[in-house]
Amino acid sequence: MRTRVAVLAGLGSALPPHVVTNDDLAARMDTSDAWIRSRTGIVERRVVAPGSATSDLAIAAGRRAMDSAGAPDIGAVVLATATPDHPCPATGPTVAAGLGLGTVPAFDVGAVCSGFLYALATGAGLIAAAVADNVLVIGADAFTTIVDPDDRTTAPIFADGAGAVVLRAGTADEPGALRETELASDGMQADLIRIPAGGSRQRSHHSTAPPEEHYLTMRGSEVFKNAVLRMTESSHTVLARTGWSTDEVDLLVGHQANVRILQAVADQLGVVRERAYVNIAHTGNTAAASIPLALDDAVREGRLNPGDKVLLTAFGAGTTWGALTLTWPDGLARPRQQAA
Ligand code: UT7
Repeated sequence: MRTRVAVLAGLGSALPPHVVTNDDLAARMDTSDAWIRSRTGIVERRVVAPGSATSDLAIAAGRRAMDSAGAPDIGAVVLATATPDHPCPATGPTVAAGLGLGTVPAFDVGAVCSGFLYALATGAGLIAAAVADNVLVIGADAFTTIVDPDDRTTAPIFADGAGAVVLRAGTADEPGALRETELASDGMQADLIRIPAGGSRQRSHHSTAPPEEHYLTMRGSEVFKNAVLRMTESSHTVLARTGWSTDEVDLLVGHQANVRILQAVADQLGVVRERAYVNIAHTGNTAAASIPLALDDAVREGRLNPGDKVLLTAFGAGTTWGALTLTWPDGLARPRQQAA
């Protein structure tokens, strides 16, 4: 029996309309446009309006991905997010309902900034197990809702957005086939990026934990070093398993956490910087959304062509990380990225 392999068949993304520039942030906290640009590569970011939530972004991106795939019969929805609409239940079913997908299986994957790679692997697993022939895989986050708006160590970095792909059942030799995947975690580093309160360990409520403990905290420089190390290691692993040399990589699409991280990973791998895709200047760090948003922007800029060898890699809270190789498919429509 031939193994059912996941093949990329659709792509879409969505950003909220409201733009916050570095100067906007500098007007309300002790930072500057020059510091944020030089230390992160970020120029501006998108922020959800009060009352908007992750599912709104996820539905908009999911619809565009389904349209670009020719409206296939979606059999499952996998949503990578660390900012669900509510702590309980998962947001995946809300997204499936919003897309009119009836009673398909739908759930969340929680691997924070590595979440999209974990969700891709999960979607591919659902296809291999014949649970579904077409799976909608979405990365969506509204990180500005969990960041202290006055904290200069996190507020300039994190942002909101969503990206989505459709995976269909196919074969390993087709363009668009997901090739090799590595996923990993190290829970000993769980305190590098986290929200201290609001979970089962330190229960919700401003009466039981101070307000600042309900916001994201990050030990930035340690995260930076680990991100470079782990993304480089994982990339080497999947390239070796795929049988590709670093010279053959047409586009390296890393999680858009910091332009300096992306350049360091490219340098350490030996991929020329021109082949390391960067769109963080206008998106900021959109967590689980960043890789599919980057893929969508790269397609619209003509940076991804049929048959290209593509390497994805990410690192995030948990800590979690991973890498994945795929070839770029034929005939993927070029959806416009519009405001959600
Ligand atoms: O998404 C997945 C996980 N997240 C990441 O991968 C993010 C990884 N980390 C980073 O991108 C970087 O560590 C940051 C951008 C968060 C910080 O950059 P850094 O170069 O590591 O700066 P730092 O934290 O070492 O701080 C350097 C200096 C400090 O001042 P002193 O102690 O040298 O006087 C900070 O207080 O920069 C100061 N600083 C700022 N200054 C102006 C920190 N944040 C700011 C700010 N504006 N927003």
